Amino acid sequence: VDRPLILAIESSCDETAAAVINGEEALLSDVVASQVDFHARFGGVVPEIASRKHIEAICGVCDEALDAAARVLLSSAPLHHPECSAQPGVEGLSDNAPRLRWRDLDAVAVTYAPGLVGALVVGVAFAKGAAWGADIPFIVVNHLEGHLYANKIGLEDFRPPAVVSLVSGGNTLLVYMADWGDYRVLGATIDDAVGEAFDKVAKALGLGYPGGPVVSKFAAEGDSSAISFPRAMLHSGDFSFSLSGLKTAVVTYINNERAAGRALNVPDICASFTQAVVDVQVAKARTALRETGAPTFCLGGGVAANPTLRQAYETMCAEEGVRLVMPPLASCGDNAGMIAEVALDRYRAGKFSSLSTDALAQGDL
Ligand code: KG4
Repeated sequence: VDRPLILAIESSCDETAAAVINGEEALLSDVVASQVDFHARFGGVVPEIASRKHIEAICGVCDEALDAAARVLLSSAPLHHPECSAQPGVEGLSDNAPRLRWRDLDAVAVTYAPGLVGALVVGVAFAKGAAWGADIPFIVVNHLEGHLYANKIGLEDFRPPAVVSLVSGGNTLLVYMADWGDYRVLGATIDDAVGEAFDKVAKALGLGYPGGPVVSKFAAEGDSSAISFPRAMLHSGDFSFSLSGLKTAVVTYINNERAAGRALNVPDICASFTQAVVDVQVAKARTALRETGAPTFCLGGGVAANPTLRQAYETMCAEEGVRLVMPPLASCGDNAGMIAEVALDRYRAGKFSSLSTDALAQGDL
């Protein structure tokens, strides 16, 4: 099929997501159902709850993605990054309008690794059932590769080589992308992920979960030089990161201030913590760009939505004469649009997966 229609599913953590892509690399739909409210009261993602919520949501999310794609196909005006539930100018489906069915698709794709294995299993089993039932090819996609491809969303002229920083609740990596499918991990965190550090600092401050957005909000009003927090591994001479010491330093600072009876300056703590993270991320990214000679720098993962980080990368890339490519904000966190982008390349290369492929908690790029 020259212009395949592919449905992609993502369920590696706490977002149930589905997207439809067509052969012209246009995302026809991109639906994300977040479970974050169910996990918030526990201060983090509870794997058992994640699996059960995926089971509840997956049919509805896939139906919504198929219906939204059908609306776009009927209007013959493909959108590059549609907000599915509110597409301006696109009529809703009438009761007797043609609907997309599984058998109309040319392939089903799914994230199989890495992530919470009980969460991945739900998407993988569902996608396998759909592929088997509709007798269409099945494609498995690595979640981290999806984040690399997120930079392509809405930017079809984007091509590797590039250095990519992947920063999420579960991952912190610096990757050299020589070409699509040709990746070299330059370095990774040796302990906590960056998003995890944001979540833990927010928890210590009683700001709830997830921590990133609320810490960002306070940081915007604070003084980033008010408190000197450690910049771990800044001069380690490699591309490894360490976040657990920084988190401990912030918690120790909070405990000491409280013990001394002083009121906490939450904006200053958030701004100073964020700056400590950003300084190390940006310094290592700059070195990676110089060492690889890559003309482009990209971001991925939920933390890529952080405004201080985005601003610092804008400055650094301008100084280095490097093109900065950032995914649309909605595509920074987990989504299925990025999985669909990978799946389309796999489909074109004829790389299909066996229906006996298993979900994996670990999965290298
Ligand atoms: O990629 P993602 O949605 O899920 C995975 O971890 O795979 O990333 C979620 C993480 C959380 O740790 C959240 O606190 C963090 O991204 N995050 C942020 C921001 N928005 C989300 N961290 C810093 N600043 C933000 N604005």
